[in-house]
Amino acid sequence: MNESPARRKLLGILSGTWVAQGVYALVKLGVPDLMADGPVHVGQLAHACGADARALGRLLRALALLGLFTEPAPDTYGLTSTTELLRADVPGSVRLNALMQGDEVFRSFAEIVHTLRTGRPAFEAVYGRPFYDYLGDNPEAAAVFNESMGDQRPPAALTGCDLGWAGTVVDVGGGNGSLLIDVLTRFPQLRGVLMELPDAADAARARLAEAGLAERAECVAGSFFDGVPAGGDAYVLARVLHNWNDDNAVAVLRRVHAVLPPHGRVIVLEDFLPERGEPAPGRSAAGLVDLLMLVTQEGHDRTGSEYRELLVKAGFEVVEARAGALEARAA
Ligand SMILES: C[S@@+](CC[C@H](N)C(=O)[O-])C[C@H]1O[C@@H](n2cnc3c(N)ncnc32)[C@H](O)[C@@H]1O
Repeated sequence: MNESPARRKLLGILSGTWVAQGVYALVKLGVPDLMADGPVHVGQLAHACGADARALGRLLRALALLGLFTEPAPDTYGLTSTTELLRADVPGSVRLNALMQGDEVFRSFAEIVHTLRTGRPAFEAVYGRPFYDYLGDNPEAAAVFNESMGDQRPPAALTGCDLGWAGTVVDVGGGNGSLLIDVLTRFPQLRGVLMELPDAADAARARLAEAGLAERAECVAGSFFDGVPAGGDAYVLARVLHNWNDDNAVAVLRRVHAVLPPHGRVIVLEDFLPERGEPAPGRSAAGLVDLLMLVTQEGHDRTGSEYRELLVKAGFEVVEARAGALEARAA
């Protein structure tokens, strides 16, 4: 039967998870790293990673037919410039992201109907507890998550933030320290404090030390719902508020408000959704991260105006607004 373009497109979308999970399985078994020096025979790959050679060959063949791997000789497969990024040791590697997507995220999306019926994250139905509690109980998953967040570059809006006036910056929920490394490098007068859940704080401490910044940066373990470290001039919340519903996001902002000195500023960095009624800039994946928040956590992405409303509710007034960044002081 002749497929209409619409039908072909839709069937392609529906089989997208097969491709994604196939890629995930290869990453899980370390196959892309085994191809680092060039194409390898499938028998050799299977032996090295403990796979069934016929199954591995069929998966690689399917993905090669889609253009994701090369097959320069029969049963011999190599990486393309795209799948090269699945290796562990390349700049811009998405290996850890692939692991996270294929495990917890995929299982959660399998139960998305639960989210639609209840409005609650499917993640909690699958794993029995909220996302960050689960990570607290699973150091391996936490390490994958923390590192994969750190793989992402600090938000672009950060480059527009002038911290030349500040003595101490506190990075609240600072992940693995990429953002703090960036600002401490750009502003040599700054000292930094990173506040994180315990596993992430340990990882960040090691990373900051590796970057030669141990003297200028301190990592504090704790929950920002219990309070944030005092003594900062600028408090950064990068990609933190979108993990939480409005009540919890305001609660975190109030914790910052409680310790902010009169001259201090809170800086919120997020990928803003297009304002309602604003023409969307062509196709955009922005809504997909919001969907990820819906299914895995109780958070959601927001427009700049919606983040501004949260800040006002928590007692701030916005003094500067740029794409992806809001800076506010205590009202
Ligand atoms: C989406 S990540 C963003 C990390 C980093 N700011 C960045 O932009 O790459 C959110 C961070 O919030 C941290 N977090 C979640 N709950 C927390 C809590 N109760 N107290 C402190 N940090 C928390 C997580 O460990 C995670 O690293």
